[in-house]
Amino acid sequence: MPDNLKKLAQKALKAGRIVDLPKDHFINGRFLSSQSGEEMESIDPGTGKAFHSFAKGAKADVDLAVAAARNALKGPWIQISPAERSRILWRASQLILQNIDRLAVAETLDSGKPVNESVGDTRGAARAFEYYAGAADKLQGDVFPLPAGYHGYSLHEPIGVTAHIIPWNFPISTTARGVAPALAAGCTIVAKPAEQTPLTALMLADILRQAGLPDGVFNVVTGTGAEAGAPLVAHPDIDHVTFTGSVSTGITVAKSAADNVTRLLLELGGKSPVTVLADCDLEAALQGVMGAIFENAGQICSASSRLVIERSIHAEFMEKLVQRTEALSIGHGLTDPNIGPVNSAEQQDKIVAYLQDAKARGLDILTGGHALKDPDIGTGWFVAPTIIDNLKPDDRICQEEIFGPVLAVQVVDDFDEAVAVANDTAFGLVAGIYTGSMSKAHRYARDIDAGQVYINEYFAGGIEVPFGGNKSSGYGREKGLEALKSYSKLKSVAAKI
Ligand code: NAI
Ligand code: MG
Repeated sequence: MPDNLKKLAQKALKAGRIVDLPKDHFINGRFLSSQSGEEMESIDPGTGKAFHSFAKGAKADVDLAVAAARNALKGPWIQISPAERSRILWRASQLILQNIDRLAVAETLDSGKPVNESVGDTRGAARAFEYYAGAADKLQGDVFPLPAGYHGYSLHEPIGVTAHIIPWNFPISTTARGVAPALAAGCTIVAKPAEQTPLTALMLADILRQAGLPDGVFNVVTGTGAEAGAPLVAHPDIDHVTFTGSVSTGITVAKSAADNVTRLLLELGGKSPVTVLADCDLEAALQGVMGAIFENAGQICSASSRLVIERSIHAEFMEKLVQRTEALSIGHGLTDPNIGPVNSAEQQDKIVAYLQDAKARGLDILTGGHALKDPDIGTGWFVAPTIIDNLKPDDRICQEEIFGPVLAVQVVDDFDEAVAVANDTAFGLVAGIYTGSMSKAHRYARDIDAGQVYINEYFAGGIEVPFGGNKSSGYGREKGLEALKSYSKLKSVAAKI
């Protein structure tokens, strides 16, 4: 860890907090407490203790934020040239990097994740603003080849006011990957971060203000899903909703959006496979599988929660994987362990219920399988990194999103069976493969029903690569130039001249 970050992290660990964190909604360019005056607590998952309080929003706050965004869309934002939009996004990317230590420590206090992962996520957020800064003035239309005497062209117009419902597992990066392209496309925004992790969205609002974003273009309302999220999605002045979270909440959001014919992008997680074939580079595969399930304690929509492995290397691979898993350090996120706590007591309970059920059914748990406390301070919501071997494809451990450090292993006899098993869930977010055969790799990429496929490096690629799900994993695409299409609407013009 760099010295400055280390100092701030140690200070925060000792004090249990950092100073000057935002606590109010950000509406129309300023911080504003809830109309009701109500607040709720932020809890540090590493200690289980409250460290901060913030505004508990409701419909009245949402109404103010949506009105501010609507006014800004008609007012200052539309007057600003695409080139100037670029400059604002660029300045935001630089300001994020200048504030990276504070953002990362706040993110770790809120989410529990190891602070170096928070640094990586914050860098990713800066990169999203940098990438879309370069795109804001390059969104251009076509001229249609009509017969002589006619002229036709297309315009990409901003969709309007977009709502972003953000989950707690990647607060700053999910906010940035939605907000940066929406701003680049000329939209105005109301974001509702998860009630477990509101801080970095509020800090980002302040950064965007410093970068020169006009009042009302980016607003943040904090609070619960039921009280602040639901009225935002249902608001008739919202033109588009980007939702990232659980399938069941996604379905509720889709039904509510349908009442106003509001456009929707759903990113609903998965049960993604990483397939390891006998002809792979074993060391690369071991490293890839470890990161794919144990980063952020497995709370990643695109985590590889299933390992699909060829029988001929199964025994050797599992022995090494278990060894490495048992060597992972566990602790408070601010001490930068390999594995931090999971985000909440509810999340810990949910994961442990799966593990107890697996034990009761006599499944083959190679390591882990239980809850933990911080080994140094005896607090917090931890789950031991867990590997469950030899699972049948229809086992609920292979079918349901557990969202924790739990790897389900499925053994197969050949490539064709691997593809069939990899596809055999209701989800289709991402898939990975490790193999020495490029022909098998590309056949896999062709035959997998998923929005993104990784070859020989799980999580390869960045903001340049479009991302989103198939089947129950949702629809619509974020990242890349595709995201600009998600936040603009096409108008065709045809004229007799
Ligand atoms: P959730 O889907 O309920 O929450 C995600 C976001 O939606 C939060 O900001 C929440 O406040 C908001 N929300 C909740 N109800 C809403 C409503 N009716 N209208 C509008 N917004 C609403 O997820 P939750 O309850 O935090 O976690 C439950 C499970 O969901 C996890 O165990 C995990 O399996 C999955 N999950 C998946 C994520 C992913 O990235 N795919 C992220 C978070 C959770
Ligand atoms: Mg929920």
